[in-house]
Amino acid sequence: MGVNVTEAVNGISVIVCDSADDASKTTAELIANQLGQKPNSVLGLATGGTPLKTYQYLIEFNQSGRVSFRDATTFNLDEYIGLTGDHPQSYRSFMNEHLFSNVDIPIDQTYVPDGSTSNIDQHCRDYEALITDHGGIDLQLLGIGHNGHIAFNEPGSDSQSATRLVDLAANTIEQNSRFFDSPSEVPRQAITMGIATILKAKTIVLLATGSGKSDAVRAMLYGDIGPQMPASFLREHPNAIVVLDAAAAEGLPLNSAAS
Ligand code: GLP
Repeated sequence: MGVNVTEAVNGISVIVCDSADDASKTTAELIANQLGQKPNSVLGLATGGTPLKTYQYLIEFNQSGRVSFRDATTFNLDEYIGLTGDHPQSYRSFMNEHLFSNVDIPIDQTYVPDGSTSNIDQHCRDYEALITDHGGIDLQLLGIGHNGHIAFNEPGSDSQSATRLVDLAANTIEQNSRFFDSPSEVPRQAITMGIATILKAKTIVLLATGSGKSDAVRAMLYGDIGPQMPASFLREHPNAIVVLDAAAAEGLPLNSAAS
């Protein structure tokens, strides 16, 4: 593993790693440390291509006895509307396959919004209440969309937003169509935790890898804070960490990059 450089940028701790693999391992270590300090942590978890390697490292750490999820509770950020949990492209299936079924977490301590609920508004209110009943999220893992979305909070989402039904942006549908047989199968709506829900987490860790994310990362860290760039609200959080690989950090005016 190369040397990681941490630098404070506009209120966010930015860790730049040599490779996507290093960044994923660093992120897994942050989560493992959280569980080490507080075994019954409440973790907020994310889907997408980005966290896959982090989950592989967590599975490795769990199987080698370095970390246990036995007393943890997890809340996922979002779920597609219209997919039942057993649909192969549902985020519930994703989490079961890529993390939950490979670690020692009891499945009834894992929560993912139900995209097939008959009462969406009530379900969203219940999801918020459940997070609060568990004492709030200790560590929230995030990715970032090419348009700066976090979870499914698309541009236009305000900082007070809670868990709710949202329409997906056209470019999000296009990006996510790679997981479906055809673009027409990609759901157009989702349930997502809101920006306010995410910002209530005690620690936030956003992982971004690859050159495709560098524009969004730059706008998040250096652009205006506002709904046009949902990830920029992390700069108003007291304990936000952004983990990048060199490609996602390319072109950032970091002090360490100048040396
Ligand atoms: C999805 C998820 C987000 C994720 C983003 C980036 O739309 N709702 O939580 O961060 O896409 O995905 P990827 O990591 O595949 O680039």
